[in-house]
Amino acid sequence: MRNHNLWISKNVSNIAISAIKVMAMRSAKVEGAASLAWGVPSFKTPEYIRRAVEQSLETDPDIGKYALPDGLPELRSLAAKAHFAATGIGVDADRNVMITAGNMQGLNALLHAIVDPGDQIIVTDPGFASHVQQIRLCGGEAEYWKMNEAEDWRLDVDALADLITARTKGIVLVSPSNPTGKIFSEEELRRVGHLAKDRDILVLLDDPYSHFTYENKNLYFNLASVPEFTDRMAYLFTFSKAYAMSGWRLGYMIVPEFLKRQVLKVHDATIICTPRISQVAGIAALAQEPVHLKVFERILAKRRSLICERLDALPHVFDYVKPEGAYYVFPRIVAEHADSFEFSAKLLDRAKVTVTPGKAFGPSGEHHVRMAYCVEDEVIETAFDRMEKYFGR
Ligand SMILES: Cc1ncc(COP(=O)(O)O)c(C=O)c1O
Repeated sequence: MRNHNLWISKNVSNIAISAIKVMAMRSAKVEGAASLAWGVPSFKTPEYIRRAVEQSLETDPDIGKYALPDGLPELRSLAAKAHFAATGIGVDADRNVMITAGNMQGLNALLHAIVDPGDQIIVTDPGFASHVQQIRLCGGEAEYWKMNEAEDWRLDVDALADLITARTKGIVLVSPSNPTGKIFSEEELRRVGHLAKDRDILVLLDDPYSHFTYENKNLYFNLASVPEFTDRMAYLFTFSKAYAMSGWRLGYMIVPEFLKRQVLKVHDATIICTPRISQVAGIAALAQEPVHLKVFERILAKRRSLICERLDALPHVFDYVKPEGAYYVFPRIVAEHADSFEFSAKLLDRAKVTVTPGKAFGPSGEHHVRMAYCVEDEVIETAFDRMEKYFGR
């Protein structure tokens, strides 16, 4: 009998499902588990978006059909406008805008367009676990760029230059960061941009969380707003978090024309187009003022205070840096434990609380866990009541 593993490609053998989803799947099997594992906002997609889709389902004769591979022209125009409003950079809806099925799909297409086997892409450590898997899926290597907790997880730009080699194609950045909630400073980001320019690499900005910066709005800086970097910049926005549309699978990508031409080929060869119904939802979303955002942010700010207060009551278990943005906190485990995977597995089995092991976000994430506070208040309260009982106050 054939060894089934021989049928599996090296690239796929080399990757794993992200620990976030592994914990979410394990958690789903534990009845009544209080899960802080997955960053899915508890909010319903705003009503004005749902109503617009409902109407299109009834009246639009094309609603069930393919769209053009790069997306509906109306949505691309709205995305170009939104990008101008966010960055002051004018882009052309035909030459520079791609509609994606979310940032995961967008990045996957982009990485397939730029990575050859053995090429390197720099990722922050800690950083979003799936980026590493995506790079490996293309046969590339993820190079970890270490951040220090003692320096509040800021970008250590001095260490970046040495990481760039002849095989480096690009760097992926997420600000505010998943998992640390750090908002990277304008000065550090500009230095990264200049290094990328000097060393001739691409910058991939994955942006799910820029709308969630709370009292730290003045700290946020969008590197895509610097004109001299636009020829090497891919900016990806997702509707998943800011519009509570994670299940619709929708985003847009702003890229130089030479990249759009290549990404379009991958897009066509893999998904043909983003589902039209989701694009119609996106048109409704971008055609209006995002009034819901203030509400989302107010609720998330309250939940951040709540989770920080509850963490403060467990100093013998966790130590943490207060997150500036996004909706994650990344505490260090100070209680006795072997590693973050063992700690998280035990916590689920014995206390019915689900968190994501920090090691999944890179070597510097070991001895940490990620908690997502985008869930209902009661879930946060239940999780911490259980942890207080399990660890003692
Ligand atoms: C940094 C980062 N990128 C991408 C995603 C996934 O985005 P999308 O739903 O648009 O694929 C997430 C979701 O948690 C994320 O945190």
